[in-house]
Order: sequence, then structure tokens, then C-alpha cells
Amino acid sequence: MVDVARDGAGVPAARRSPGGRADVFDKRLDASAMLRAVAETGVSPFYRPMRAGGGEARVDGRSVVMAGCNDYLGLAHDPRVIAAATGALERYGASCSGARTLNGTLPLHGELESRIAAFLGTEDAAVVTTGLQANLALAALFGPGELVFSDAANHASLIDAIRLGAARRTVYRHGDAAHLDGLLAAADPHAAAAVVTDGMFSMDGDLCPLPALTAVARRHGARLVVDGAHDIGLLGEGGRGVGEHFGLREEIGLYTGTFSKCFGSTGGFLAGPAEVIGYLRYSARAVLFSASMPPAALGAALAALDLAQQEPWRRDRVLRLAARLRSELRASGLDVRDGVTPVVPVRVGDDARCVRMWQALLDEGVYTNAVGAPAVPEGGCLIRVTLQATHTDAHLERIVDAFAAAARRTGLPRETPPPRPAKGPAVGAGASAERAR
Ligand SMILES: Cc1ncc(COP(=O)(O)O)c(C=O)c1O
Repeated sequence: MVDVARDGAGVPAARRSPGGRADVFDKRLDASAMLRAVAETGVSPFYRPMRAGGGEARVDGRSVVMAGCNDYLGLAHDPRVIAAATGALERYGASCSGARTLNGTLPLHGELESRIAAFLGTEDAAVVTTGLQANLALAALFGPGELVFSDAANHASLIDAIRLGAARRTVYRHGDAAHLDGLLAAADPHAAAAVVTDGMFSMDGDLCPLPALTAVARRHGARLVVDGAHDIGLLGEGGRGVGEHFGLREEIGLYTGTFSKCFGSTGGFLAGPAEVIGYLRYSARAVLFSASMPPAALGAALAALDLAQQEPWRRDRVLRLAARLRSELRASGLDVRDGVTPVVPVRVGDDARCVRMWQALLDEGVYTNAVGAPAVPEGGCLIRVTLQATHTDAHLERIVDAFAAAARRTGLPRETPPPRPAKGPAVGAGASAERAR
């Protein structure tokens, strides 16, 4: 790792640009505790090449249980999804080579938009190239003099959207509707306002408190925008996400979402009132200035959307597996957060212990995700386990056994110290930067 020692001016003596200025290239990864732990331990949980499918993966030439992937319904490798992707690829080619507005619109884009709108019961939907871009598109809605209230644990792309927009940003404590209420009460009552939240949070797997948020948003006349990246397809009787889970679908003003988790593909969408979606189609730079969702991804998403609706057993299965995993990991003395979703976070404490635990789990035949600050508070590192409908009971047992063995090997204590506030660059999938401030 690079030396972090800096000279008196806060600029490393060794790194100055040729003109003697501080060097814009002088950026240091070792500000992250997790990456320091990686350097210290020699364990590298990131950017590992692999090939996954059917609840397993090949990593380093070995077959392991894949317990670190958001393909909750197990559709990314379903032969019907692959056949639909292949059909679209053969018919329309590998790329549209352009944005939706100009040459990048296929009949499949319109079909997917109608199907998403019909599924969620919204007037319209716009399909974009990634879920991240669906969120960035929101920047076009957040204008000068307007107010956006954002959950402290929101996904990094929601945070960036709010920063890109011109509205004033206020962060409320994670999941704390009473805090939000107080902040809204103290804000300009005439300014347009939006409350923005993940539906299901990607690191801890917890849900936004939608009933309380809805009541607060209503009381203050604010719009509610929900990122359903993880919950749409998964939660609610028909898989329509947290809105359906809580019986409050009509309270959500605007959805963003992705095809990369429950819908076995890659791509994103916005769904809501026709006028808002129409406005975003022509105003959001994340929509206007990027090549459109490619044919194979469209084919896969269309097929997976059908299968997610036709095969509700997938939701039941993965949610039941998650409940069982939580209780078995707890029974073996691990610090597992409460919840109902297939994201099962196991708190392991500091970064070095986290990467050692991650390696021990891999040695025991289970691939998980090591998550450090600022995706989670510093000192509150997690091993994040994510389940899929295609996991068998035997997979689940292997995960439980691997945790017991890895905890023994790494000396994981039953009680972990309370987390401290985070700082440093993001490490871990979907990391939120908001906690760092
Ligand atoms: C809550 C949330 N929103 C948005 C995204 C971005 O989705 P995509 O991977 O399709 O860009 C993610 C992905 O990590 C996410 O977890």
C-alpha cells in the first residue's frame, strides 16, 4: 500500500505534479479501514473472478455455495431467461449504439415499459440502462428552492442524484420517521418537498418504515419516492415490493428499480404518473445521454418479469430459507440482525476480522460479501449473506456449517463492539456514502 504520511501542507511530498502543484492523481485507497485490512491480511474479497449459477459458483477452480449475489429469485441462469436473451440478441444485435431519444428505442423497450407499469399499477414507466441511472435521473426532478429528505442509509446512487439536483438536501436518521417529521415541520412549508428512501436496504436487508413515512409525507404534503431495487419482485403477495408488503401501494408517488436483482438481467426503470415519466424522458440526463438498455438484457428482463409473476413459489422459498438461516445462525451464537428478507447480515466487528472471516467462509466452501465502512458504520463490518430461491436445503446447511467452522477458526466473539461513525472511501457492493458524513 502507499505511504499515508503527508507533509505539513497535507500534500504528500513524494507526489507533486510536474508544475509543482498538488497532484490530482494523488488519491489513496488506504484511507479505507477495510482496504488496510486487505493489505494487512493478504485476503482479497473484492473483484474475484467467478462463474455463478443455480445457487453455486466456481471461484479459484472450486465449486462453492453462492451466498453473495442479489439474484434472489434465481432467475439469472434460468434456461427460459437465457433463451429470451439469446432470441433478442439474435434478432436485434448486441447493442442499440445510441440513446433512447435518437436511435436507441426498440419495440422491446416499449413492451418492457408497459409491462412494468401494468405490474406496479402506475400510469407509465421508463426503462433505462441501469438501476443506478434510474436513480440518477431523479436529479432532474429536484429543482432550485425545492427540498429533498433522504434516509441516512440510502443507496449511493440516490445520494448522488440528490447531490446532482439543485434542491436542498436534508438527511434524516435511518428509518426514523419521527426525525423526518421534525425536519419537515421545521422546513419551509411552501417549498415543494420529496422524501426519498430505499424500499429494502441493501446492506442490512431491513425495510423502510413505509406506514410511518407515508403518514409523515402526507401530513407535510411531501411526495414519496421509493427505490425498489431489492424489494420489487420479492416482497408482497404479488411481488410488487414494500408498497404491497405494507398494503400502501397507492401512497408511493414514484418508483425507481432495477432488473439486476429479482429480474435476472441488467437495466433499470422509473414508474409513476405519466406526466412525471414523460418529463423525465426528456429532461433526465442519465436517460438522455447514455446508450439504451441492450437487446439481450431486455429479452432477459421481459422473460424474468413473467416468471416472477407466474412462479410465486420463488418468493416464498427464498423468504422461508432466510427465516431458517437467521434462526440457525443465531442459534450458533452469531450476531444476526432481525429481518424478513434474504439479505442476512452477520455482524463481525472490525475490518481485519471481517476479511479473515470472509476467507475462512470461502475456505469452508461458501462465497459471501465482506462489507465495511462507509456502507456500514466503522467497526460494524458485516458478512452479508444473500439467499436465492434456487438454494437447496443442503446449500443452507452448508452455509450454517461453514459459519460455525469459520467463527471457530477466526475466534469470532459472540458479542461485537458497538459501531462507530464511518469515514473513508466506499467499500462493498451498493455502498452508501451518506453514513460517512
Ligand atoms: C438500493 C439500490 N438501488 C439501486 C441500485 C443500482 O442498481 P443497478 O445495479 O441496476 O445499477 C442498487 C444496486 O446495487 C441498489 O442496491
